[in-house]
Amino acid sequence: METPRIALVGANGYGLHHRRNLEPRRRSGEIAFVGLCDTAEIYEDDTIPLAGLPVYDDYLTMLDETDPHVVVIATPPPTHLPIASAAMRNGSDVYLEKPPVANLEEYAALYSTMVETGRNVQVGFQALGSHAFNALRDAVEAGRLGEITSVGVAGSWRRPDAYYRRSPWAGKREVDGTLVADGALANPFAHASQQAIALAGDWPLAGPIELERLRCRESIEVDDTAVWRATNKNGVRITVAVTVCGDRKLEGDIYVRGTEGEAWLEYTTDRLILPGETEAKQYGRTDLLDNLLAHRQRGIGLISGLRRSKTFTGVLERVLNDPVPRLVGEEHLERAEDDTVTILKGADRAVEEAAKGGRLFSELDLPWG
Ligand SMILES: NC(=O)c1ccc[n+]([C@@H]2O[C@H](COP(=O)([O-])OP(=O)(O)OC[C@H]3O[C@@H](n4cnc5c(N)ncnc54)[C@H](O)[C@@H]3O)[C@@H](O)[C@H]2O)c1
Repeated sequence: METPRIALVGANGYGLHHRRNLEPRRRSGEIAFVGLCDTAEIYEDDTIPLAGLPVYDDYLTMLDETDPHVVVIATPPPTHLPIASAAMRNGSDVYLEKPPVANLEEYAALYSTMVETGRNVQVGFQALGSHAFNALRDAVEAGRLGEITSVGVAGSWRRPDAYYRRSPWAGKREVDGTLVADGALANPFAHASQQAIALAGDWPLAGPIELERLRCRESIEVDDTAVWRATNKNGVRITVAVTVCGDRKLEGDIYVRGTEGEAWLEYTTDRLILPGETEAKQYGRTDLLDNLLAHRQRGIGLISGLRRSKTFTGVLERVLNDPVPRLVGEEHLERAEDDTVTILKGADRAVEEAAKGGRLFSELDLPWG
């Protein structure tokens, strides 16, 4: 079988993660790393040497000259549709970073190109490769939780103010007239929403998406603390409550509640407690690039195919079209650490309560809610 030829667009930022993932596979001969493209100067160190790797600043030239089997795309979201479409038209399969696209119109365009070209799109929602996720779905399907009524996610992280200076689109609602997907819900916690939608059975949502977004920094135009809630067409209520202004860390706690039992999954670490268990069990993960290669070579099912992120894209569209979030009053904030972090007092408890009880912030007894 021919060694898969892989190219990467977007070499710095999250592209570094992909380069670190590709490097051992390249060294072992499992893949051929045929080209790297970035419009900026490419960062290099000993763990990810460029050593003879063809480097491009134009992805069309790279596609033409390297003819990859798979193109990994880790560029900012507004560039995803043109780059992924060009790659598929070139005959390549695509590993497309999340969010695949910013709205349902772009989703439809990408989906049509995928169908027309007969290529594959794996979306970089890596937590869907979790074996804990599969064990939980298996438990649900075996009836161990009864009928599922709700799925809630709580995430409480800290981001230094410098986080919003990491790239030209950081903290922005719009760049050059295009809505960009930053903000806690749209970016770092995108996985929380996708994971909740998938755990609730991958059903579309029914009715409106209720949304409350707040920001604790005047300098940003996006949410750093937010909650959304909706019910899916199978009657499961989904609540996703997150903050990057949390005092206490909550990695990403998912509470799945059924008529006969509850389960807890930490989606970032693959730890799971099923009904009747008292201690969290640690599970492994299938890497989504390996899964895409196995799909190409042996027909193994794609874990995070484009179709699976359609509902997520609807949620993202709703979030991106929301106005600039309400600014929280200074009296509710604290500054911590040397590399200044803004803490919203009580946000860690609030996201936990919201996720457990299916509540919006405005329905909790919060001074800033
Ligand atoms: N799966 C995850 O957990 C995860 C984590 C972080 C980021 N991401 C996703 O990865 C993507 C990239 O995010 P980022 O924070 O690294 O962004 P970024 O702004 O740092 O850009 C990444 C790189 O793409 C390059 N680039 C931009 N436009 C380009 C173009 N037209 N052609 C070639 N290169 C181009 C930039 O120069 C940069 O080096 C986003 O979709 C983001 O949501 C995913």
